[in-house]
Amino acid sequence: MSVPLLKETLTLSNARAMASSAPDFLLGAARKLGPNLKVGVGPITLTVLAEPQALQQVLQKNAKAWGRGTAVDAIRPLLGNGLPLSDPPLWLTQRRTMQPSFHRAQGPNWVHTMREVAAKSLDALTPGAELTTRHLMMTLARDIIVRAMFSQSLGADTTPYDEAFGVVEDYVSTTMIPGKLPLWVPTPKHLRFKRAVTFLHENIQRVIDDRRREDTPTSDLLTLLIKARDPETGDAMSDQQLRDEVMNIFFAGHETTANLMTWTVFLLSQHPAMLEKVEAEVQTVLGQRAPEPEDIPKLTALNRVIREALRLYPPAWLFARQAFEDTEVAGERFTKGQVVLVLPYVTHRLPTLWSEPDTFDPERFAAESSTDATVWKYAYLPFGAGPHVCIGNHFALLEAAVVLAMLLQRGRLEVLRPEAVRPKMGATLFVGNGLPARFAPRG
Ligand code: HEM
Repeated sequence: MSVPLLKETLTLSNARAMASSAPDFLLGAARKLGPNLKVGVGPITLTVLAEPQALQQVLQKNAKAWGRGTAVDAIRPLLGNGLPLSDPPLWLTQRRTMQPSFHRAQGPNWVHTMREVAAKSLDALTPGAELTTRHLMMTLARDIIVRAMFSQSLGADTTPYDEAFGVVEDYVSTTMIPGKLPLWVPTPKHLRFKRAVTFLHENIQRVIDDRRREDTPTSDLLTLLIKARDPETGDAMSDQQLRDEVMNIFFAGHETTANLMTWTVFLLSQHPAMLEKVEAEVQTVLGQRAPEPEDIPKLTALNRVIREALRLYPPAWLFARQAFEDTEVAGERFTKGQVVLVLPYVTHRLPTLWSEPDTFDPERFAAESSTDATVWKYAYLPFGAGPHVCIGNHFALLEAAVVLAMLLQRGRLEVLRPEAVRPKMGATLFVGNGLPARFAPRG
């Protein structure tokens, strides 16, 4: 099978279309012109790759020729040089250090933490009261990651954190817009962002300092990072590197999963038959008791719904690579320094790979179904692929299943104004209006 050639396309007016809905604009272009494209956005030309063979080339077969480089510089002021933004040799050392904390064997510990945090939050839902689903899921996912990875809690009053996260999210959501002013220009927004980052850094540093002083043995990710030594030099991680890793796990590990859970609530609300099926499954497998680790794989319908939500609305809808050397992909030459955008959102909806790609159909993930591209890794990559594949993928899938099962045990989130739901892009793909809903307890 030959790799389609990149096609030159479109021009100036694209900037406005990109700003309004980049995922759908790029999907439309890919369906019309082919999955690998060049898109002119104002003065900038973006190279977009969505075709599986091209993705496999960049992410795995020829991964050495591609890295993060300067392609992710826009978010470095927040995330520094943590795992999702680094390249070898630093990346390799850090990945090896952190991998054991993310091994599947940790599953039972995670499930216990997840269900404890979820029970507290879901048991506090007020019947009939309006809430914002995304806010509920963000708070839950944030508390889960902080407890599971760092054995911490944000304390009783989370207002300063909520404010800092709000400012950071607001800033990061605009980093994709071409022609943005550089961060050193002292606009009120930039100053607010810098203050929020300083607040977060100081608080993380405090947690690190406290942990260094503690006598009680802890075996969480934070302790592992503190104890880690460079295999060649024997050096410990610098405070700044430690802080970067903590920030990265925190940010990579909660917003993505919160968006996945929010999208799943939305999709189930729009497909009542599937909602009933999943509710019945939860009752059969769990009844009203708390989930145990061994229950999760038995929630077959729920797990398929989660995978389908990840296909239709992959929270990491886009990520970037920069050429580290002159190289070739999709029949096109790339010179050192050039950037390509990888777009799971587009790949997951290509009609050449998926039957009825815009239709919600969790059954396509049934093991016996092989008509769709689900069997082909590079056609379905919500967690990326190759050496940089998401380190937290098992954690995220478990979390979504535990939290959603526990929600369904308690009742439904009845979505208000579903017609207003639009995908919005920031650092992640999220529900634009936050998904207002009412909690209706099980009768
Ligand atoms: C639904 C939830 C999640 C999605 C969709 C997601 C998606 C992704 C994707 C697409 C990548 C690859 C990026 C690239 O190749 O440049 C990635 C990497 C990463 N993710 Fe996730 N992620 C999720 C949850 C998590 C969680 C829960 C954690 C941590 C607890 C996490 C930590 C990371 C880290 C550290 C990397 C960098 C890996 C490396 O470069 O070696 N993610 N994630």
